[in-house]
Amino acid sequence: MAMVCLTDFEKYAKEHLSKTAWDYFSAGADECYTRDDNLLAYKRIHLRPRVLRDVSESDTRTTVQGTEFSFPVGISTTAYHCLAWHEGETATARAAEALNTCYITSTTSTCSVEEIVAAAPNGYRWFQMVVYQDRRLTEQVVQRVEALGYKALVLTVDMPYLGKRHNNIRNQFKLPPHLQFKNFNGLQKKQATVDPKAYITSDPSITWKEVHWLQSITSLPIIIKGILTKEDAVLAVEHSVQGIIVSNHGGRQLDGTLATIDALIEIVDAVKGRIEVYLDGGIRTGSDVLKALALGAKCVFIGRPVVWGLVYKGEEGVREVLQILKDEFRLAMTLSGCRNVAEINRNLIQFSKL
Ligand code: LAC
Repeated sequence: MAMVCLTDFEKYAKEHLSKTAWDYFSAGADECYTRDDNLLAYKRIHLRPRVLRDVSESDTRTTVQGTEFSFPVGISTTAYHCLAWHEGETATARAAEALNTCYITSTTSTCSVEEIVAAAPNGYRWFQMVVYQDRRLTEQVVQRVEALGYKALVLTVDMPYLGKRHNNIRNQFKLPPHLQFKNFNGLQKKQATVDPKAYITSDPSITWKEVHWLQSITSLPIIIKGILTKEDAVLAVEHSVQGIIVSNHGGRQLDGTLATIDALIEIVDAVKGRIEVYLDGGIRTGSDVLKALALGAKCVFIGRPVVWGLVYKGEEGVREVLQILKDEFRLAMTLSGCRNVAEINRNLIQFSKL
């Protein structure tokens, strides 16, 4: 089967995953309005390509937090990669390294961070985390990833509670007994046995004070993931974080929010270039990437398509997913008359209603 576009990988994954695993990865909250709108929103945004601009040479490279990537698409955090492919996150990490892009490792990965780093020693990685009620445990996780050379902490802020995902409830979804949250092995916990859910959601009482606390225990940059309004974006800048990921958790948390591409504009305008703004949710084609960059995202991240790539062929499948998106992005960029990411701007977007 020739894999031509990202939806080919989606079809393959749906056919080859168990129903329970497919339902887990594809889940959205409630009626899935937001999950689905993350994709549909791109269809409502139109491009204004320029022509006759010599696009015989093109360059997809970009810089994120001062580091160069081969193209402006990174791997967003998704959990439980061993459910998709036996090598789990180590395969994902090798693919990200091969394509020279960023991999945001999930706290609830099914390979340990040590295994991930050993599998792709030259990869550039950020670490996704939440602040737990057990602050000492949170601190130990931070120390563990700092020591391993992770380059930033991605603090998930949209998960004080788990969103209501109907099929996961019906399936009574939980991690199969042969898999583990390996990043907590060897750490001291307040309670000997912790409810697995407590590893996923954050302490619901946290506020910007805990962001300050996190800054006090780490020297790593902090990127806040899960911002959807200009008000919170401004607070993020005022609290001296280094970046924002505009995200609605793939539509898995609060149903009814704006699609991330629709939320992006007010956030970019409020931030005024003071910190980098990224986006995840709904990216399926190179022209989606182009639209997000034109609207001010410095880089975008993909979640579910990486899982589909894993299901298809592990590391090779994820490489294919990334390569397809890279090729499509180059094509969309040059067909729009841009030779590099610096030439992409809002003039590319048609704002008026058609
Ligand atoms: C989820 C958690 C793990 O969305 O982030 O399932």
